[in-house]
Amino acid sequence: MDYFEEKDGEAVNPSTEPTIGEVISRRTLLKGMAAGGALGLFGCASTQNSAAPTFTEVPRSNGERIQVPPGYTAQVLLRQGDPIKPGTPEYNPATQTGEQQERQFGTDPDFISFMSLPYGSKSSTRGLLGVNHENHRAAICFPGNPKQLSKQQVEVQIAAQGFSITEIAKEGNRWRPVLDSKYNRRISGNAPMRISGPAAGSDRLKTSADPTGTRSFGTLNNCAGGTTPWGTMLTAEENIQNYFSGDASKGPEAAARRRYNITGKGRYSDWARYFERWSLDKEPNEPNRWGWIVEIDPYDPNHTSVKRTALGRAAHECATHAVSHDNRVAIYSGDDARMEFVYKFVTEGRFDPANRAANMDLLDKGILYAARFEANGKVRWLPLVHGQGPLTAANGFASQADVLIEARRAGTLLGATPMDRPEDVEPNPHTGNIYVVMTYNERRTAAQVDAANPRAENRWGHIIEIVPPRVNGKPDHAATECDWGFFIVAGDPSKPEHKARYASAPSANGWVCAPDNVAFDPKGRVWISTDGQEDIGGFNDSLYAAQTSGPGRGATRCTTSWRSARPSRS
Ligand code: FEO
Ligand code: CA
Repeated sequence: MDYFEEKDGEAVNPSTEPTIGEVISRRTLLKGMAAGGALGLFGCASTQNSAAPTFTEVPRSNGERIQVPPGYTAQVLLRQGDPIKPGTPEYNPATQTGEQQERQFGTDPDFISFMSLPYGSKSSTRGLLGVNHENHRAAICFPGNPKQLSKQQVEVQIAAQGFSITEIAKEGNRWRPVLDSKYNRRISGNAPMRISGPAAGSDRLKTSADPTGTRSFGTLNNCAGGTTPWGTMLTAEENIQNYFSGDASKGPEAAARRRYNITGKGRYSDWARYFERWSLDKEPNEPNRWGWIVEIDPYDPNHTSVKRTALGRAAHECATHAVSHDNRVAIYSGDDARMEFVYKFVTEGRFDPANRAANMDLLDKGILYAARFEANGKVRWLPLVHGQGPLTAANGFASQADVLIEARRAGTLLGATPMDRPEDVEPNPHTGNIYVVMTYNERRTAAQVDAANPRAENRWGHIIEIVPPRVNGKPDHAATECDWGFFIVAGDPSKPEHKARYASAPSANGWVCAPDNVAFDPKGRVWISTDGQEDIGGFNDSLYAAQTSGPGRGATRCTTSWRSARPSRS
């Protein structure tokens, strides 16, 4: 098989016409660095929010080098295989072992998060960098692009994915990893973790290695993520269908597997050759232990990471937080597949800023909702609660565990809106408005067009803005009805056939396609990174910035452009 090929975002929602096809590969370190720009790792010398961001726009190109505006610099901070613990051998792809990789920076960085050291400080020169490692590409990482991997190489692949925590410090104008930091660690595809929340202990999560259904081993395909207000990091397990081999059509899980696109023909087909847990025939429940949001405490090197099942099982793209007016916490997430849903989870308990320990299990109790975007400009959040509406034993849901394990099917029964690959869902901390990013869905048919996904063959993507109601002037993220509208309907506004819409005209160099992840800077501007522009626009993936309010709202401009290590979309 082609190890470049990645099954990402396949449509399996039965409310659509299922299609088989290609996809898109992703992520390079440069993308992580670009996202870091939005987080301040290389900054924007800006003035006030009333003006456009103060940088000289960069031209988009097809070049190999990252482009940043004049006066700015980009540096490589960590590369795949770089030691993050003292005494680790330098990376050597020919002799790499899983044990070494467990002490080295992983592959395919996606989401990154910076948290200051010490905890509670506002330091901008010392902190913990959490990084997702989404995939491992044998064609790039192993000499000779082997078609069948050895057991040692599979062990490297398992160890290279997941998450990493590295202390970093800024000296002068440069950042460096602090190799002897007690905080540095990998949380790989092997890491012991706890399963918590309503699905913990479900028979459907039990395996030979874990007869309790409460102890898991590893996190994989970590795409975007988020943080919590109590200083933990959240990592989202996305394309978990890639890892399992065998006959997916047998046994009681067959139907559930279909909805999660688990075909038994994943791109990591060699794993089951050496380890039974990746075999659907040997461990039929193992896939149910993946596709969750994982909570990691970067400040406690001995903390056991937790799969939080209350947030539902999906091809999670992110897990971003917003604190509501009453200190309940909402966690937003997109299910990045064609015609899948947008979710939010609202905690039952309230965030206590003065007591970190009291917050540590807030994500175990609450209500998970899927979004229905109405044509009248309202978005309704539909509760995924066992026993309510169609989520009953008559429809195969014996418990809340079943609802969460099959959140996609529950969302369909409730009438959630199938979206054009919802990726990042990001609250603007300055306004409380939520930005929902649909990357693209070139397979939506004219018959499938709806108010929130207004274009058939949507090759450019769009960004929706959700406005929650206010209580005492503060956003109510627990509200089950909000307003929505478009922030950007992406594409080239000079080409009528794109049907692009921007609140203010983007620069000729700044129109967007394939928006993926977004972040907000201290001035409230949105930074939009893309994934797939090469195939659509013919130029490198880029990072754009725009105002979210006032003059110039939505007028995107290109700030950074880079070449992604990815194949063309066929
Ligand atoms: Fe892994 Fe949806 O990007
Ligand atoms: Ca993404």
